[in-house]
Amino acid sequence: MKKTNTYILAIESSCDDTSCAVLCNDKVLSNITATQHIHQQHGGVVPELASRDHQKNILLTVKSALKTANIELSQLNAIAVTQGPGLMGSLLVGISFAKSLALSLQIPIIPVNHMQGHILAHLINDGDNEIPKFPFLCLTVSGGHTQLVDVKSALNIEIIGSTIDDAVGEAFDKAAKIIGLPYPGGPLIDKHAQKGNPNKYKFANAKVEDYNFSFSGIKTSFLYFINNNLKQDKNFVTNNLQDICASYQKHLINTLLNQVKKIIVDKGYKNIAIAGGVSANSCLRADLKALENEFDVKTFVPKFEYCTDNAAMIGIVAYFKYLQNNFSDFDFVPITRM
Ligand code: KG4
Ligand code: ZN
Repeated sequence: MKKTNTYILAIESSCDDTSCAVLCNDKVLSNITATQHIHQQHGGVVPELASRDHQKNILLTVKSALKTANIELSQLNAIAVTQGPGLMGSLLVGISFAKSLALSLQIPIIPVNHMQGHILAHLINDGDNEIPKFPFLCLTVSGGHTQLVDVKSALNIEIIGSTIDDAVGEAFDKAAKIIGLPYPGGPLIDKHAQKGNPNKYKFANAKVEDYNFSFSGIKTSFLYFINNNLKQDKNFVTNNLQDICASYQKHLINTLLNQVKKIIVDKGYKNIAIAGGVSANSCLRADLKALENEFDVKTFVPKFEYCTDNAAMIGIVAYFKYLQNNFSDFDFVPITRM
């Protein structure tokens, strides 16, 4: 018999956030994240600097998560950690720490797929949130992934569409770089877009088959669009920043949601969720909600703290694995692409 309460400590270090959470069953007791700002000046994540900062922050983050949760190490039932996808050096820091802690406490270790974490964040029980019903469709949008996923149950998930080249987060970040905004540019494009006209500029759409996406062409067309306009007016970007951001953002969100609409019509999903860093985008959140007026569907957006990388989402996956005694040997290794 399982104890009534299962306490899991989860660690996430796949990219540039060192995060630690403590969960009691499906509830989050603490979720502490140390975000690395050092990458801003480099225009993107520098893997070696990320690993070093994880090494510096991990113990403090773990201690702080335990303290906030008011839980002792001796109360923990399992340690969860992100196995991938992510940066090799960053993943190694979290995994080595998690293995050592689990070994010293003599409790099981549970490796977790980061993308599954983004999706199952919808199953966290915050007391006041509605949880999507299986099977639900999840649009998973981050800096490294753009996927349409059929979530049949917590541990039975099938990818039914994905990007054939860049992720939508990259399309945000690279466009931001072109117009001189620092990394990560997605949130800044979102911010400037709020005061802009989304219908002012038009961009071409890439042709893709089935339920897949393509973003590399959109990014290139954005680069030409900016360069051509700068030739006529050297202040084009500064004078039109809000409209440029609003139009480009609308184009990306339409590209995402057109595929979602296609699947709703074809397959009849009733519950539609979004997950991953880009699910923090205000236009995506509003336009997803608007689908409820167009189709007979219910939509789900994650709380902001569960959009970008965090350990609570790793903890919830581990909780469902724990219920099935789905533990790992200690010889598992990071997987940079899963
Ligand atoms: O899930 P995440 O934190 O890390 C990965 O697993 O990749 O996602 C990071 C991505 C970045 O590309 C960032 O620009 C994007 O999420 N992002 C946003 C917003 N907030 C974060 N993109 C558009 N609008 C936002 N508000
Ligand atoms: Zn992520």
